[in-house]
Amino acid sequence: MTGNETGASSPFQQLIRVGIALTSTQDLSALLTLILSEARRMVDADAGTLYVREGAMLRAVAAQCRTLTERLGDGKAETLFDSLAVPVSPNSVCGSAALTKEVVNIPDLHAIEGARLAACSAAFDREHGYTTRAVLAVPMIDPEDEVIGVLQLINKRGPLQQAGFGELDVRISLALASQAAVAIRNARLTAQLRRAHRDALLGLSIAAEWRDRATAKHITRVTEYAGILGLAMGLPDGELDLLVQASPMHDVGKLGIPDAILHKPGKLDEQERRIMETHTLIGANILNSGASAVMRMARQIALYHHEKWDGSGYPKGLRGTAIPLCARIVALADVYDALSTRRCYKEAFAPEKVLEIVRQGAGAHFQPELVDALLAQLGRIYEIRDQFGDTQAELDAFRDYANIELKEPDEDQY
Ligand code: C2E
Ligand code: SIN
Ligand code: SIN
Ligand code: FE
Repeated sequence: MTGNETGASSPFQQLIRVGIALTSTQDLSALLTLILSEARRMVDADAGTLYVREGAMLRAVAAQCRTLTERLGDGKAETLFDSLAVPVSPNSVCGSAALTKEVVNIPDLHAIEGARLAACSAAFDREHGYTTRAVLAVPMIDPEDEVIGVLQLINKRGPLQQAGFGELDVRISLALASQAAVAIRNARLTAQLRRAHRDALLGLSIAAEWRDRATAKHITRVTEYAGILGLAMGLPDGELDLLVQASPMHDVGKLGIPDAILHKPGKLDEQERRIMETHTLIGANILNSGASAVMRMARQIALYHHEKWDGSGYPKGLRGTAIPLCARIVALADVYDALSTRRCYKEAFAPEKVLEIVRQGAGAHFQPELVDALLAQLGRIYEIRDQFGDTQAELDAFRDYANIELKEPDEDQY
């Protein structure tokens, strides 16, 4: 697609349209690709690279080249740029744009005598039989005057190609680059918030587990099983994602159950059983901030994961589809795991026995379609069971206060 195809719409109209697209795209990598393709289209550039600043380096996070795509096929050209990283320094076009916060516009890279600037493109050109001539590098500067990255456009196409990129191209790219800077920053903040939210919620379920003498692997297994069942039931991606985030919290209410009951080695009496059943209500009360979709689903799961399809469950005795689907799913995932592993009050059942109990529960405890889904996915279920199996050492170590192990913090980058 070229700039000409947009016909009557002015650069201003195009910028407004692109700006709307940028602010409505939350997914960072989709956003980066969009910025680059729109910039290339608006200034009619053959190629381009979008660099994001990471400290003293610029890392190429999106690259597109029409000529190489035509030559190599879709997807191939992009991978050529995968590992491209350039220091913020005067020695490259994009590096100096980041350093000086100024646009660098070079009509013909090869016309520059002994240009160190050309070194990076020269190596690229040699390797891929491409000729980089015109280069326009525009710093992406956010409202705090921080350089977020550089938008680099290569080789003007069309009748004006000899002259390189013109004044209008520069102005358009600058406008786009500043919109892009804000959009990237917002997408990062959103990702960071989501991640912080998820971590906090996970911490809550780990706290509950600690009291329950389960291991982290119990919630991992239940969550994985729930994901498999949700997928098999055709939940759309967004719902599935929520389900996987919310399932770990199904038993947080056990935080409120006295140790003597929670850890009783034998069968609970009637009164203890009644207290134990309140873990659903306590869990719902812990998770009752309705501020996010995850929390709302987590609350439903905590509240209803012991309801039964035939209406004989607790706390409300809901029946059939009156039970939220997410809770029906976790009910089966949870019981399957409880049956197939050891608890303080019971040993693990043999796999055949587990399946027998699950089959008998179809239509009584569980929605029949869910039981079918589980049986159809047994291969994957067993994989999860084995991959996240509890070792005796872990179970023994769990409350060994003399030997509490300090774990390294997870340091995922956002
Ligand atoms: P949990 O251990 O995670 O068990 C979850 C669910 O798995 C149970 O919900 C039950 O539906 C199923 N389940 C567990 N073990 C068996 C079993 O041997 N046979 C069959 N058919 N189903 C089983 P439930 O019964 O509502 O229990 C909720 C929670 O209450 C349990 O979570 C556990 O923490 C506690 N609990 C239940 N029974 C006892 C018990 O006899 N002694 C102790 N100490 N705790 C119990
Ligand atoms: C390109 O040809 O798209 C980029 C070459 C470079 O970034 O140096
Ligand atoms: C779902 O898990 O897809 C929906 C949960 C609900 O019914 O609220
Ligand atoms: Fe429970």
